[in-house]
Amino acid sequence: SKTQLLIKKKILITAGPTYEAIDPVRFIGNHSSGKMGFDIALAAAENGAEVILVSGPSSLSISHPNVRLIRVQTAVEMFDACDSVFDSVDVLVGAAAVADYRPKHVADEKIKKDADSFVIELEKNPDILATLGNKKKEQFIVGFALETTNEIEHAKQKIVKKNLDLIVLNSLKDEGAGFGKPTNKVTFITKNFDIESMPLKTKEAVASDIVNKIIEHYA
Ligand code: PMT
Repeated sequence: SKTQLLIKKKILITAGPTYEAIDPVRFIGNHSSGKMGFDIALAAAENGAEVILVSGPSSLSISHPNVRLIRVQTAVEMFDACDSVFDSVDVLVGAAAVADYRPKHVADEKIKKDADSFVIELEKNPDILATLGNKKKEQFIVGFALETTNEIEHAKQKIVKKNLDLIVLNSLKDEGAGFGKPTNKVTFITKNFDIESMPLKTKEAVASDIVNKIIEHYA
């Protein structure tokens, strides 16, 4: 039933959380399940695209002949995997919840609970979308924005800063939107700041809307 309108298009998609090690047993992570990104990967593949899906730790799997899945742990690994193929892709979709910071020092052994308090110093991770967005050639780049306040304004700032063509805003204030859930409620904002708010849908349906935006770009 799916169209093959993305045939010969190569699409790079990020999904899931990243895990930033503190010591051999602990990490800094977040609540992303990977579902949003995996659903986009499947929708793109079913429309004929050749998909590279770079995912942080997720319990999900995907089986489609058009999808190559690369599993990573950290933001730096996700960045390296994306950077190494970026020049060869037509589209980048950033659905991953990438940690903005990582522990500056990773303890070699499990940290003992002797001290009453201690500080973990963090250093900044590379911003995958901003780095690739600011060196893009013909690529069409779709970012996500996960916000809790001043959602539209923050999303617009991300479009500019990361040189995106389209951003998919989801707000943790909206019931049924965001992490883990089978549904999402998104607002599309184009690089011209055209705004389109969608109703609550399944993540499969949101994924199909996103893929249709990509199809429209090439129509
Ligand atoms: O995985 P699920 O459980 O299905 O949940 C889906 C989701 C909520 C994770 C997804 O819909 C979503 O919103 N993903 C982006 C989450 C996020 O971290 O947003 P942000 O506003 O912090 O980042 C903005 C954009 O920059 C995102 O496209 C992000 O992938 C990208 N980014 C951020 C930081 C960084 N170091 N590198 C990046 O590429």
